[in-house]
Amino acid sequence: MTYTNPLRDPQDKRLPRIAGPCGMVLFGVTGDLSRKKILPAIYDLANRGLLPPGFSLTGFARRDWADQDFAQIVHDSVKSYARTEFREEVWRQLAEGFRFVSGDFDDDEAFRQLRRTIEELDQVRGTDGNHAFYLAIPPGFFAEVVGQLKEHGLADPAPGSWRRVVVEKPFGHNLQSARELNAILASVFPSGSIFRIDHYLGKETVQNILAMRFANTMFEPIWNNNYVDHVQITMAEDVGIGGRAGYYDGIGAARDVIQNHLLQLMSLVAMEEPTSFDAESLRIEKQKVLKSVVLPRRLDLATARGQYAAGWAGGQQVIGFLEEEGIKKTSTTETFAAVTLHVATRRWAGVPFYLRTGKRLGRRVTEVAVVFKRAPHQPFSATSTEELTQNALVIRIQPDEGMTVRFGAKVPGTATEIRDVNMDFAYGGSFTESSPEAYERLILDMLLGDPPLFPRHEEVELSWQILDPILDQWAAKGKPEPYGSGTWGPESANAMLARDGRVWRRP
Ligand code: BG6
Repeated sequence: MTYTNPLRDPQDKRLPRIAGPCGMVLFGVTGDLSRKKILPAIYDLANRGLLPPGFSLTGFARRDWADQDFAQIVHDSVKSYARTEFREEVWRQLAEGFRFVSGDFDDDEAFRQLRRTIEELDQVRGTDGNHAFYLAIPPGFFAEVVGQLKEHGLADPAPGSWRRVVVEKPFGHNLQSARELNAILASVFPSGSIFRIDHYLGKETVQNILAMRFANTMFEPIWNNNYVDHVQITMAEDVGIGGRAGYYDGIGAARDVIQNHLLQLMSLVAMEEPTSFDAESLRIEKQKVLKSVVLPRRLDLATARGQYAAGWAGGQQVIGFLEEEGIKKTSTTETFAAVTLHVATRRWAGVPFYLRTGKRLGRRVTEVAVVFKRAPHQPFSATSTEELTQNALVIRIQPDEGMTVRFGAKVPGTATEIRDVNMDFAYGGSFTESSPEAYERLILDMLLGDPPLFPRHEEVELSWQILDPILDQWAAKGKPEPYGSGTWGPESANAMLARDGRVWRRP
């Protein structure tokens, strides 16, 4: 009889999953995303003991840096943005695996150097030929870099090892360009080696949508058009575009957030139970939702877009979008977008999904609110029930992560007066563990080759298929409607819901 140590049972999902021998090459090391998210996440993973001891990180950029200069950049970013405490011994071991290759994306010699670097790392750090190429660069360069990886034999793994590519959104700017991009990636890497990052899928609270729906019995029976009146999905930010004019102008709120984060959230809320939580089963169900989306006929009335004007945010006076550095005075890019979508399935027929996102809104909050129908009959006197709103289940994605159930309760006293109350679940109150950053989870999953949290090209293309007609309609209309910074968006967004007899939540 063979003895299996239960602590080593590979089926036991409670054990921390540690990446095997590998390295990562980061293109775009000087960008905001690398500095604020990717580099700190790598340190946090190392600090949690989830990276292999010989993990190596190679930066690739135009700067004329030595390995030590690169290490200093990573050090600064870790000190400023890492989630976990700084530990000298973890840092030292991690930093031994840092390398830097200087060059342009069209510089063949730089890619030859990259290849030599990786081969050297395989020898001295034991990375075993397993390497991920993380493209934290503007999508306009994807084709060139991916082409260079192929050209220089970097995309082909030796037998028994792997090569992966990681791409950040935007995955194109419409259906056509997304297809082209997917074709380029697919011409170099097999689909199982392409990891598209949508960082919302790495958030604990987003993953909790599935846990909440499918690990419990009490929600699913009412999760349909018999009980649900409508769903509101909000991703609001109080910040403006900051220093991201170059990226944001011409992209706008719908492409930046609705195409990816909000449509992914909607898929998780609306999908049927997958046969399992493996990537393929999840993809099938998410894809069915996206395929079932139907746009309202009058897109002009069922969508809204706006552009922030000067106003107040966080107690400070702020400038409008058109005054931001790097933005053309004539820009028609929207900084607020709201859309009405229908999911044409038996479960959701007649239940609108309202999605909205914007910059410089009242506060930073992301939530999914499932708003229920009113009770069919109310045996209370009219005066005491008039104020009753509808029951709602609000999944608070961030900040203040948790869930709220809103329902009516009797106000103490001799009269039968009903008032809305909230029942709350807060992550902080129920769990002592703090949530890892989305990028920690996603980078680890990618290094493990675990794909469920990464959108596949079919989902990306279906999302563009939904958005393209809306974007075309907006492009034909010219300027978005201005809204004051610190407000909840343009008047047309309120009118959009008012036409359906509904109002937006004020989170
Ligand atoms: C990014 C968008 O995907 O998400 C940004 O490009 C936005 O415009 C950011 O600010 C918000 O992320 P989070 O995790 O802070 O909600």
